[in-house]
Amino acid sequence: MYPKILAAHPLVVELKKDLRLRCEKLKNRGIIPSMCVVLVGDNPASLTYIKNKQKVCEEIGAHFKLVQMPASVKAQDFLNQLHQLNHDHSVHGIIIQLPVTESLKNLNIPNLVTPEKDIDGFNGANTQAIYTGTTNLQLLIPCTPKGIINLLNYYGITLDGKHVVVIGRSLIVGKPLSMLLSNLNATVTLAHSKTKNLKQITQTADVIVSAIGKSEFITPDYLGHSQQILIDVGINNLDGKLTGDVSKEAQEKALAYTPVPGGVGPMTVISLIENLITATENQVKG
Ligand code: GUN
Repeated sequence: MYPKILAAHPLVVELKKDLRLRCEKLKNRGIIPSMCVVLVGDNPASLTYIKNKQKVCEEIGAHFKLVQMPASVKAQDFLNQLHQLNHDHSVHGIIIQLPVTESLKNLNIPNLVTPEKDIDGFNGANTQAIYTGTTNLQLLIPCTPKGIINLLNYYGITLDGKHVVVIGRSLIVGKPLSMLLSNLNATVTLAHSKTKNLKQITQTADVIVSAIGKSEFITPDYLGHSQQILIDVGINNLDGKLTGDVSKEAQEKALAYTPVPGGVGPMTVISLIENLITATENQVKG
């Protein structure tokens, strides 16, 4: 049986050890895995996420670079910068930190990073694998879905035949996660802001994944029984305190839950760094 609190820490420790070794092997061949984050503007939440990514990247021995551009950047200058990074052989992984500023929103952001360096797994060439049924978590697939599935696997929580309700249909979490869960034989309900009778739906779930972005949204009345598992993707600021989407009372009622902080967040970051090492290995294959 799994613990009530599905903490990322023990799994992150294991994964870091493995990634350090893979990084070391590459360095012994003269290759330093290197990631570049492109940030437009200075959104404080983005700066915090980027710091977390940099920390883990450097902890495993990889190289980190931040390219920051002003919020006023012209679309053509932004595209030129990405073109340069896509062709720079010393850079193995690129992410465009989201959200981008309004002036860039017309660009085809998910497809601007070349598929081989797309460690976010947003490029259509990479999401295609999920769309066509893969369950292979070693591919360059989106980091939050990958991290959630890895965490559930680690705690021995199976998905085959389970009813999973995912709330939120974003490109980063809800869409790819719902497909991946379906590939793993879960029955998936993808709910969103226009869903009617959400409580009735979540009450029948085996697993509820909340990616809403509202503190204490999931209260005990969203739970139907005491055997439910709650996966909290929320990263919210409540009076200066980092909180998830799930209330303390709902956590208490559940069979198990992922904490915030210390749950899905660290799994997302370690999955990104894993994608960086995979991308590097793929690019330097003999
Ligand atoms: N902003 C919030 N989460 C993410 C993420 O996983 N990737 C990128 N590129 N931007 C984000």
